[in-house]
Amino acid sequence: MTRRFPITLLCSSCDARYAADGLINVCSSCGGPILVHYAITAAPELRAEIRSRRADMWRYLEVLPPDSLDQVVTIGEGMTPLLRAKRLGGAEGLANLFIKDESKNPTRSFKSRGMSAAVTMARTLGAKSLGAPTAGNAGCALAAYGARAGLPVFVAMPRDTPRSIIDECLSYGAQVELVAGVITDAAKRVQQYLVATGSFDLSTLKEPYRVEGKKIMGYELLDDLGRLPDAILYPTGGGTGLIGMWKAFGEMERLGWIGSERPRMYTVQSAGCAPIVRAFDGGLDRAPEWEDPETAAWGLRVPRAIGDRLMLRALRDSGGGAIAVAEESIEPAAAEIREAEGIDAGPEGGAGLAGLRALVERGAIRRD
Ligand SMILES: Cc1ncc(COP(=O)(O)O)c(C=O)c1O
Ligand SMILES: [Zn+2]
Repeated sequence: MTRRFPITLLCSSCDARYAADGLINVCSSCGGPILVHYAITAAPELRAEIRSRRADMWRYLEVLPPDSLDQVVTIGEGMTPLLRAKRLGGAEGLANLFIKDESKNPTRSFKSRGMSAAVTMARTLGAKSLGAPTAGNAGCALAAYGARAGLPVFVAMPRDTPRSIIDECLSYGAQVELVAGVITDAAKRVQQYLVATGSFDLSTLKEPYRVEGKKIMGYELLDDLGRLPDAILYPTGGGTGLIGMWKAFGEMERLGWIGSERPRMYTVQSAGCAPIVRAFDGGLDRAPEWEDPETAAWGLRVPRAIGDRLMLRALRDSGGGAIAVAEESIEPAAAEIREAEGIDAGPEGGAGLAGLRALVERGAIRRD
């Protein structure tokens, strides 16, 4: 099959270009993340056609990296429900509050999307084994998709990651190593392993394809709502989904599916680890490492992010922003979501609700 929209790989920090025909990690000239560029031309009819296809994220094949569905490593990821949070929103006077319930993915988080796309491409391009550091959920997703692809997986994660997550990774047959410290320490261990074994590196934004899977959340939002939301709150660690959705909106405009309107994008982090919020508030375009990161929202405990520049650009270009919430507000807010809506959004989702409240208070988000 020839691709409808041919692909080139572009460095997001310099003007280097790469062919999409082999395994690749970061830009060899500047070390920046590489993103997939599709030579998109207007295709308004494609939107309806896609709606008639299989009910997972691979229905968007034209804007995903594999050439054919035969290559895809899938366990049924994507097409999660966008649920109106009527009781929760009602209590806050917020008439149009929605939760995109990503816990419905095969490994119970949106990390399934990224790993489905990344493992698909890694296997297609010849990887024989895979490795990545993780705060937890990405490790479970990699372990499951690696199993599905028949490729051995190595993950390293902080020693204090919840036991249930460690056990889940092990249950899919992954090799798991626990490391003192946080995800950046786990990353050092993974680098040693990759050098020693020749495994392929699937770290966040250190290969071009995880972001492609996660961006489909942006496409789905348009289908879920019939329009884009006014604002998106994204509990942010490495930022792949935020970067991905922002990329998706640009593609959707080139497809002729939307105009120049964009949701305002907001990063939510814990005050115990808020490098992106600090950089946003300081007017910086990179985010210096956060010292002594501490938060029980494991997915947000990322002191330094290679995608910092891309996130900060998306937050600013969208007219959105960044907010840090008190660590003590996170678990009670997660409990409120469970009790009001029957949705287990995890501590990261709790941070999202706490962030929403703060933004409404500031007047950044209107109640309607
Ligand atoms: C449940 C959950 N929410 C949010 C995040 C943050 O995602 P990202 O690293 O794309 O910013 C994670 C990452 O581990 C997560 O597991
Ligand atoms: Zn570069």
